[in-house]
Amino acid sequence: MKLSFLADVNSAADTVVFPVFKGQELKGTLESLDSQTGGLIAQHYNASKHFKFKLGQTLVLHLPEVTGFSQAILLGLGDEEKMDADNAEIAGGKLAKALKQSGVAHAGVYMDYGVTDSDLSVDLLIAHLALGLNLASYDFDKYKDKREKNDDDTALDAVDFISSQSEVADKVYQMLDAMAQGVFFARDLVNEPPNVLYPESYAEIVKEKLKPLGVQVEILDDKKMLKMGMGALMAVGQGSIRKPRMVIMRWNGGKADEKPLGFVGKGVTFDTGGISIKPAAQMDMMKMDMGGSAAVCGLMYSLALRKAPVNVVGAIGLVENMPSDNAYRPGDIIKAYNGKTIEVLNTDAEGRLVLCDTLSYVQEQDDPKVLIDLATLTGAIMVALGTEFTGVFCNDDDLWSKMESSGAKSGEQLWRMPLGENFSEEMKSKVADYRNLGTVSRFGGASTAAAFLEFFIDKDRPWAHMDIAGTAWAHKDKPLGPLGGTGAGVRALHKLITDHYE
Ligand code: BES
Ligand code: MN
Ligand code: ZN
Repeated sequence: MKLSFLADVNSAADTVVFPVFKGQELKGTLESLDSQTGGLIAQHYNASKHFKFKLGQTLVLHLPEVTGFSQAILLGLGDEEKMDADNAEIAGGKLAKALKQSGVAHAGVYMDYGVTDSDLSVDLLIAHLALGLNLASYDFDKYKDKREKNDDDTALDAVDFISSQSEVADKVYQMLDAMAQGVFFARDLVNEPPNVLYPESYAEIVKEKLKPLGVQVEILDDKKMLKMGMGALMAVGQGSIRKPRMVIMRWNGGKADEKPLGFVGKGVTFDTGGISIKPAAQMDMMKMDMGGSAAVCGLMYSLALRKAPVNVVGAIGLVENMPSDNAYRPGDIIKAYNGKTIEVLNTDAEGRLVLCDTLSYVQEQDDPKVLIDLATLTGAIMVALGTEFTGVFCNDDDLWSKMESSGAKSGEQLWRMPLGENFSEEMKSKVADYRNLGTVSRFGGASTAAAFLEFFIDKDRPWAHMDIAGTAWAHKDKPLGPLGGTGAGVRALHKLITDHYE
């Protein structure tokens, strides 16, 4: 799909779209179309029986031939005072659905009638409408027989946004589009089935995608990691014939002497639970247990695409957690890369073991000035926060306040969760330095997991852990994307970087 930002009326579009706020006057193209059709627009516009200007509400009007268009779509924008980037994206998402439903191939969205009183300027309104439309148009259908496609399933090829602010809107959109491409990459990775996406193939996909953009890609294979002493990550992977990998991506778009921002992702390409095996129901979902790593890859892709002026290192630990005669066991004591020992009490608490070695390696190699990890780490975070909020555990108030404000503006919702001495105490073992499971109870499972990770963070390093177990996967179609991988984390972190680190 091609999105264009034009100053002039474009005749190639077969459908015209008019985004309208509640009580919006008939002006510009909207008005001339109204007079051409003997008041057709005003008629529907005022008889608010069918159309109430609600955010994302659409009304399709069939037009007489004289107009040169086959149909018009009114797109409600709701109350002008309530318009912001988020709402614009939701309206754009709803528009994508309406266009698809009415079989539109080429639409022209007209914004030439002097909107708006809201805080969002017209150029931003247009750019975020376009972003919402783009994000919502994502589909993962590569494994479906293309011949079976419905005849009336016309693909939306092109959308033109017409306004006097087209140049600015275009510029803003280019930035947002780079971010959207990162979201799509992350969604694709999450949606790939686990027989196709496993550590070795994953590492190759990442290299092929990022290297051409100038990202340095380092791949550590299982032999290397074993030799290096990455005993925690390697223990999780030892039950599978798909051998572990670690991928380190470096984008140096900033000043040569500037320390990088560091991002680390959990990449369990399939989590059976291992010997502490999971129940059968919905185990297929555990192909999404690499969502944290996907977000890191998506973010790196976005930054490299738009040649962001920052230094960033992204590292992902890739393993498959399988039961087998060679699998690690509950009771095993393993040695992490930093030399600490860990008593394994449940092989299903594997994400923290993969992360701890990846976190250690990045800190040792790149000394990041800020370190953020993302992981589908615990079911407990879903119990606490549901599926719309990502839980954030942070050892630094300044970093958290940045994440809080940028997150809210990005369309993702972040919620701070507690770390603390009580949680840390629970993760200490009688026979080893640490244990991978809480001591007393299952209570606070997301916090004890985060407290375990905190043991592996160097003193004084600002660090945040994002538990995206609830947000990485959409259980149903959403306004900005279908059921499946969401790309959670990419938007929030991209916004964090543009707001605070460029
Ligand atoms: N990958 C799971 C967490 C998860 C659950 C992600 C549901 C997405 C949806 C993780 O590895 C896990 O199994 N965690 C256990 C930890 C427990 C054994 C301490 C959990 O949450 O039950
Ligand atoms: Mn698990
Ligand atoms: Zn897991």
